[in-house]
Amino acid sequence: MNVRLMAAAAASVLALAGTAIAADAPTSASTLRALGAQIHLRIGTAAVPSDLSDPALSQITADQFSVLTPGNEMKWQVVEPQQGNFNWTGADNLVNFAEEHGELVRGHTLVWHNQLPNWLTQGVTNGTISDSQLRDLLHQHITTEVSRYRGRIWQWDVLNEMLADANPSQVKPTDFWISHLGVGIIADAFRWAHAADPEALLCYNDYNIAGEDGSNAKFNAAFALVRDLLAQKVPIDCVGDQGHLDLQYGFNPVLMTEDLHAYAKLGLKVAITEADVRMFVETTDSNQTPIVSPTDPTPNHTANPAASDWFIGMLQSCLAVKACISFTVWGFADAESWVPGAFRGEGNATIYDVNLNPKPQYTALQQTLSLAPGAPRRSRGGDRDREGDEGDRD
Ligand code: G3I
Repeated sequence: MNVRLMAAAAASVLALAGTAIAADAPTSASTLRALGAQIHLRIGTAAVPSDLSDPALSQITADQFSVLTPGNEMKWQVVEPQQGNFNWTGADNLVNFAEEHGELVRGHTLVWHNQLPNWLTQGVTNGTISDSQLRDLLHQHITTEVSRYRGRIWQWDVLNEMLADANPSQVKPTDFWISHLGVGIIADAFRWAHAADPEALLCYNDYNIAGEDGSNAKFNAAFALVRDLLAQKVPIDCVGDQGHLDLQYGFNPVLMTEDLHAYAKLGLKVAITEADVRMFVETTDSNQTPIVSPTDPTPNHTANPAASDWFIGMLQSCLAVKACISFTVWGFADAESWVPGAFRGEGNATIYDVNLNPKPQYTALQQTLSLAPGAPRRSRGGDRDREGDEGDRD
């Protein structure tokens, strides 16, 4: 393609993106965000403070993505480390960065058993915080945080990971919030969030709720949960499927597509919220010395075809369902990924290697997005067609 045609193609991609892309957004038509914009699909990443302070990471965060999720900075542990003593610095910086770069924000997360402040969990354990005080504190937390960012958050993960990894699955009776406040707290959390920001899309977010467990047990529980909330007129707008895959388990993208469709048929939006594909990468020699580390950048190691295939499968499931409004990876760089810290011997889960080179997993997403608006239609003439310079070989 000549330079003029390339410029025209870039212009048409941006025109299709409409006002969704800010004026200072990258003009390259081949970034993930520009390719997604062709079909109004937001492409996201989880961002942590180093993604903004490191020049190379910040450049990729701005260029490639059109929606950001704070990886940790909006969690209760971070925003209120001591009772009544708030720290919004990280969250503010991320929201400001997103807005400066024409990106939307997924707020994450308001009600979760994990990453709670010590003063809260210890107070509950030692009895200085009663259940009724805990309920008031949660109400206050949701109201304070959602109000602070009112009008600036596209989707909020109101509830995170409340379902059991079992068959059949159900809301975990042992969950910190459920065991103290009962299941009614789920509906209340959505109502409180809605009261604080009526425009934000409010989501239930979890892993393995779009068929990744093979049995669909967790999907069945999530589907029943959101269907019942809708029947009670609870203000829930979306389901976030995290999409943390591991090559040691199976993955069926057709089942994922069906499950996303099922949520959509209830009238909900859906989103892939934390995609990554991890694998075992650490092997040892006869002395038990690691010969490949979880962050090894060797191309033939990081270029795992199955991982590329599974990233494509998740993206295609989202593409197939019109109600799927965003596809987010949980961090884009292997050196930043949560995986090696959480799963011994596993890694290589993201789309950029430790030297910040895009991996084939990145190219797989790029190519899939580039075809999302549809492949060019052939005429009956087939190979007799003349299509500009490319076809003119006689
Ligand atoms: O900030 C402390 C630091 O001071 C300390 O020196 C260091 C020592 O380990 O820990 C640091 O805190 C870590 C924190 O991330 C910030 O980096 C915690 O140990 C670590 O456990 C925590 O991990 C986070 C994890 O949630 C906690 O469950 C990951 O970064 C974060 O990416 C991950 O995100 C979750 C989603 O919220 C929900 N879905 C699953 C996903 C992956 O676990």
